[in-house]
Amino acid sequence: MNINTTSRITFGATALALMTAANAASADKLTFYCSAQEEWCQLMANSFQDTTGIEVAMTRKSSGETFAQIKAESSNPRGDVWWGGTGDPHLQAAEEGLTAEYISPMRDQLHPWAISQAESADNKTIGIYSGALGFGYNTDLLAANDLPTPACWEDLLKPEFKGHVQMANPNSSGTAYTTLATMVQLFGEDEGFEYMAGLHANINQYTKSGSAPIKAAGRGENTIGIVFLHDAVAQAVSGFPIVPVAPCEGTGYEIGSMSIIDGARNMESAQAFYDWALSAEAQNLALEVNAFQVPSNMNAETSPSAPDMSQITLIDYDFRTYGSSDTRQRLLQKWDEEVSILPQ
Ligand code: G6P
Repeated sequence: MNINTTSRITFGATALALMTAANAASADKLTFYCSAQEEWCQLMANSFQDTTGIEVAMTRKSSGETFAQIKAESSNPRGDVWWGGTGDPHLQAAEEGLTAEYISPMRDQLHPWAISQAESADNKTIGIYSGALGFGYNTDLLAANDLPTPACWEDLLKPEFKGHVQMANPNSSGTAYTTLATMVQLFGEDEGFEYMAGLHANINQYTKSGSAPIKAAGRGENTIGIVFLHDAVAQAVSGFPIVPVAPCEGTGYEIGSMSIIDGARNMESAQAFYDWALSAEAQNLALEVNAFQVPSNMNAETSPSAPDMSQITLIDYDFRTYGSSDTRQRLLQKWDEEVSILPQ
């Protein structure tokens, strides 16, 4: 379906006027910060550019890194819109006044969980997808190393997994911050940190990006990756010997989010992107790049390969608390000072 035609029906008058102007002049630009997987970021950038004629410059960085960049640039903002990545740093950006309030005409097409993210943040962010945290393992490496099949978070602390577990650094990666915040919510703060310290003994590497550990497992360079389940499914669907695991104790989840940067130089382009990115047509692009998150538009399609969230024991993740500036900064500092420095 031609998205320009669809936009006439579903997008507000402002967005439509903008698109028409953009098509005529082709002078508009958009600086797009993206924290979802690289292929999806590329596809979103190219599709929006093709649809509107707005010239898109895209940069992919992890959620925590993008937050830090937007903060560092706040006196002279360079980015216009931040799409993708876990919701917590988007909420922190909202609280710190780094992002701008916007109510999209597309909003009534979204699931309540996407809107509640906006309501927690004075409409300075919104949910675009969701997905549960877990881990995945490489069946060949598990067998070759004569290792037991892990089913629970606690299993990952077993001494025989030393050097076999990989996760990202929670400072750079939203996936890894979700892991830290999940352990604190699942086990309590003291025991959650004890868990992270125990896990540290088995970690072979903290990567920058959240999905890197399961990509490494797919390539046979790592046994177990702590990642969002949809990232493990993407490896399995691509033919790699990866099994996704929804941990037996229950797990946390993300509401992948989008925010407009406060003081954006191309505010109209940012709002047009925002409206478009909330449409079912734009969210269906995920299916072309093995992005198996649950989309926030109620009319968008969820892949049959996507993890079934109703079959996973989810904690009642407290986004308001764990996305607050105080809590996120405090937990990251504590992890830096009490976990990352421990000998391995
Ligand atoms: C992957 C997941 C996304 C998630 C993102 C966070 O791309 O598929 O669902 O939002 O990681 O990335 P980060 O590198 O910040 O952990």
